[in-house]
Amino acid sequence: MKKIVVLNGSPHAHGCTAALAEKVVKAAEQRAAEVKTYHLNTMNIKGCQGCFRCQQTGRCATEDDMQPIYDDIAAADGIVLASPVYMWSMSAQLKAAVDRLFAFLRPEHQSALTPGKKVLLLFTQGQNDTNMFRHYFEHVGKNMQFMGFGDYDILVAGGTHVAEHVYSQKDVLEDAERLGKWLSE
Ligand SMILES: Cc1cc2nc3c(=O)[nH]c(=O)nc-3n(C[C@H](O)[C@H](O)[C@H](O)COP(=O)(O)O)c2cc1C
Repeated sequence: MKKIVVLNGSPHAHGCTAALAEKVVKAAEQRAAEVKTYHLNTMNIKGCQGCFRCQQTGRCATEDDMQPIYDDIAAADGIVLASPVYMWSMSAQLKAAVDRLFAFLRPEHQSALTPGKKVLLLFTQGQNDTNMFRHYFEHVGKNMQFMGFGDYDILVAGGTHVAEHVYSQKDVLEDAERLGKWLSE
């Protein structure tokens, strides 16, 4: 059974990002994956303090709600980084958690992660053109690989302002199903 961790950086618990993430989660769960979703907006996750203690001790020194996420990611087979596009990038809620993943790096940029963890980058955006920010999504994916994660894929819904805008896009929902299955394999 595969373990998947979803980090949702949207402020809307029932918004577009949550709607799309739910489709992925359902597809994965139908294939017996165990999925844990974190709604970062309601959590206490500070920005990285840049103390580099993680490099010495192997553990982030900031004792907040990021700590259980570290444990879950360490044990996971895959993660989903989910966010609305805010100002051409991920939301601040997700960025704070992503910066904190630095704690998985050891001196000389060695990764403490077990290899092969899949990454799904899931974004929703107001812009209809789903290629508009693709260079940025790829950039995030490559950063995750540098961190020691494995293959990544990208799922984007465009023209979304409320959850219904996600539900009405058959091709995006099919992609969500396919990628949920991919995560569970
Ligand atoms: C502060 C803010 C910044 C945004 N910036 C962008 C942007 O740069 N590009 C874009 O296409 N949509 C942008 N949007 C629209 C959201 O990305 C889009 O509506 C998203 O699907 C909302 O997801 P949610 O319901 O999970 O919050 C922005 C919305 C807000 C509130």
